[in-house]
Amino acid sequence: MIRSLVVIVGLMSGAQAWATVPSNEPITPVKPAVITNPAKVELGKKLFFDPRLSKSGFISCNSCHNLSMGGSDNLPTSIGHNWHEGPINSPTVLNSSMNIVQFWDGRAATLKEQAGGPIANPGEMGFTHDLAADVLRSIPQYREAFKAVYGNDNVNIDEITDALAAFEETLVTPNAPFDRWLKGDKSAISPTALKGYELFKNTGCVACHNGEAVGGNSMQKMGLVEPYVTKNPAEGIAGLTGKDADRMRFKVPTLRNVELTYPYFHDGAYWKLEDAVDVMARLQLGRKLNHEEVGQIVAFLKTLTGDQPDFKLPILPPSSTDTPHPVPFGK
Ligand code: HEC
Ligand code: HEC
Repeated sequence: MIRSLVVIVGLMSGAQAWATVPSNEPITPVKPAVITNPAKVELGKKLFFDPRLSKSGFISCNSCHNLSMGGSDNLPTSIGHNWHEGPINSPTVLNSSMNIVQFWDGRAATLKEQAGGPIANPGEMGFTHDLAADVLRSIPQYREAFKAVYGNDNVNIDEITDALAAFEETLVTPNAPFDRWLKGDKSAISPTALKGYELFKNTGCVACHNGEAVGGNSMQKMGLVEPYVTKNPAEGIAGLTGKDADRMRFKVPTLRNVELTYPYFHDGAYWKLEDAVDVMARLQLGRKLNHEEVGQIVAFLKTLTGDQPDFKLPILPPSSTDTPHPVPFGK
């Protein structure tokens, strides 16, 4: 294998040669989604945006994973059913199919398994799986859609979460400037961003943030060199195993689209990417970066913003469970 082989793939605008370099880089480009079952994805999309999956009829998956806000809610911790303030920051759903496991502590193995959680979580959508299925079954258009995808219109939580996961698998963000750079377009990122990438590699950030999602593929301790000080009670994997060694061990978050998914860390304590980078360098690597270096890494991180999922808001079928609007002032 000739790994450094440079393949000239074409000549652009007469003079500029574009080359594809088989990459030795620790980060790989995001591959576009391949949709094999559009009807299932469309059903999953409807469900993702549908507040009728919640007890109040107000909260959808998109409330906390807003697809026009980088798949997050831009709050320190999420607000759920009855204005309940959740215990932890909402991670992005963008590129979540690349995660080895789901949730900060990895307690769900797959997107399908994860999707059942929020519907029945009293502090999130506050509903039950059976009631959510009942509501959908009462809507003729949903019955039709489930029948078309699953061959029957019984509607159960297994199918609901299966469709949600199929939609989430399409929420990838290819074509980021950095990915174009990886594929050989050397003008796709600025010289400052390139210096930032070199620092990102040389200081050791890539040890934990690498691969297609620039994270999402390992569980690591937050506060490796210096402890992380927070009022947030989350303990990471230790909350599941009770083991001291697992205290503050979390899934390393993806850094794809990170400029959009503020505030940062599991407690949402830092609003500025500059501050998050400074904290990481000190706590994970024992390294104090100067102002210029932080700026360079931030410039690099901003080149990880890819094409946001292109979707038109679905038109929800009318609900037969809608209660008539109360008439004000009696009669
Ligand atoms: C009230 C806010 C809220 C709602 C509604 C909500 N989520 Fe979440 N979601 C969160 C929070 C907070 C977490 C992180 C929880 C944790 O790790 O303990 C999360 C985690 C996730 C993750 C894991 C991502 C990762 O990187 O680990 C996925 C995927 C996800 N949610 C999808 C969904 C889907 C699908 C729905 C709708 C069925 C939904 N969420 C509804 C707040 C919400
Ligand atoms: C030892 C592994 C490790 C190293 C090295 C590391 N990180 Fe992290 N990174 C993590 C973990 C774990 C988290 C989540 C921590 C939390 O939320 O409490 C994280 C979170 C982040 C976040 C916040 C993402 C979000 O959505 O909340 C940014 C930004 C970040 N890292 C950048 C960097 C940079 C830049 C470097 C190098 C200076 C770096 N990391 C080095 C493990 C690491």
